[in-house]
This record gives sequence, structure tokens and C-alpha cells, in this order.
Amino acid sequence: MFKHYTIQKMVRLVWYYFWGHILGFLFYKREYYYGQWFKGHFGGIAAPGWRWICIDALGKRFNPDVPWPCSPHIVVGNYKNIHFHPDDINNFQGVGNHYQTWSDGHIYIGYGSWIASNVSIITTNHSLENPDEHVASKNVVLGEHCWIGANSVILPGVELGPHTVVGAGSVVTKRFPEGYCVIAGNPARIIKTILKEKTEAMPSKNEPERKDDQKS
Ligand SMILES: CC(C)(COP(=O)(O)OP(=O)(O)OC[C@H]1O[C@@H](n2cnc3c(N)ncnc32)[C@H](O)[C@@H]1OP(=O)(O)O)[C@@H](O)C(=O)NCCC(=O)NCCS
Repeated sequence: MFKHYTIQKMVRLVWYYFWGHILGFLFYKREYYYGQWFKGHFGGIAAPGWRWICIDALGKRFNPDVPWPCSPHIVVGNYKNIHFHPDDINNFQGVGNHYQTWSDGHIYIGYGSWIASNVSIITTNHSLENPDEHVASKNVVLGEHCWIGANSVILPGVELGPHTVVGAGSVVTKRFPEGYCVIAGNPARIIKTILKEKTEAMPSKNEPERKDDQKS
């Protein structure tokens, strides 16, 4: 196992591990830095999460209130309205994502979902008549084990069922609550279905919780 690690790499990993704990303690809520991305070989020293903390903490001024490690190249609106399992913190380490929850819209990310770079998840539109104002928000819900391809836009009120794949560059305007499908294009339409039997071995940890008055 050691042969994969050069001395230089090992020193770097220990460095991230050490500073990751200190910066994590200073800047983030503990629950967010003990998920799957902080565990692994050598007691977790080699886990990527510690490196994320070190890099993200340097850019903390871009998302100052967000209590989990979040890339400075991502825009997070009202973090209190974004709901996800700490194991899925990888979705906040990319580039160009916009989690738009400025007002009372909520984003629910199902367990085991993957969101690629430059994805915008939007819960609120501007008023068509007066762009200085916003219209009422609508929640966006991603089911478990979804995969959102790069450069996609998920619009207010969209609900994707479990195991929905969104093709790169898609604009999702409607709900696909049944899941188990590949959707793509602008506007996104079903281009393939996914066999449920082939997905049953995947772990399920949470269905995103929704308060009744916040349903999309
Ligand atoms: C959606 C996706 C997974 C489908 O892959 P696939 O199952 O191999 O699909 P195919 O290549 O067989 O395409 C099937 C049809 O859908 C179309 N299609 C595929 N991806 C599309 C997309 N993103 N937008 C529009 N149409 C798309 C194809 O043109 C093809 O149309 P046709 O039947 O008229 O020829 C893949 O195309 C994709 O977009 N992957 C996302 C990659 C990405 O963003 N990665 C980020 C890093 S994690």
C-alpha cells in the first residue's frame, strides 16, 4: 500500500491532515468534516477532505457563513436552505456551481448524488415585469444517486426522482419525479431509462426531508 505514496506526497498529506483539523475546527461545523471524504487509509490521513478544507478555508471570504468546506469558486446563496448528507460534500468542491437559494427556496440533494462543474440550481426567478423584484421561490429536489452533467441548469420547482442522470448542458424545466432515467437537452427530455434492478445494490441513506409547506 505504501508504494503508492512518495515521501513528498506523504508529507503533503500529513500537512493537509494537520491543518485540516485546525482549520476545520476554526471555520466549519464538525458534522461536515467527518463524513466519507475524511476517512480512509492510515486513519484518514490520505482522505481528500483535509486538502479541501485547507484550500477552501483560504477562500473563506467568498462564502463566509457557509459552515462546511466549500470551494471559493462556487456560489452558495442562503446556506441554511441547502440540505444534503455530509458524505456528499464533494458537490461543493468544484468550479462554477451556483446554488441559488437567496430567498426562501430550498435545495434538497439526495444521498449519493453527483453534481458536475458549472451547474446552476435555481430556486427563484426575477419578475418578468420588474427584474428588480423576485417572484416566489420553488424548491428543487434531487433524489438519491442522481448525476447532474456539467453546465446544466436546474430551474425552480424541478424534482428529479432517484437515479436521474442529467446530460451535460441540459436545461431542466420540468419535474421527472419517477427517476430512473437519463434526461438531456434544452428543454430536457427523457432520452433513456435506467433499469431499477441494476441499481438496487446502491446504498440509501436519506430521502431529502421536506416540510409540507415547502414542497415544490
Ligand atoms: C447523458 C449521457 C450520460 C448519455 O450518455 P450515453 O448513455 O452514452 O448516451 P448516447 O451517447 O448513447 O446518446 C443517446 C442520445 O442522446 C443524445 N445525447 C447524449 N447526451 C446528450 C446531451 N448532454 N444533451 C443532448 N443530447 C444528448 C445523443 O446525441 C443521442 O442522440 P441520438 O439517439 O439522436 O443519436 C452523456 O451524453 C452526458 O451528457 N454525460 C455527462 C458528462 C458530464 O457532464 N460529465 C461531468 C463530469 S462528472
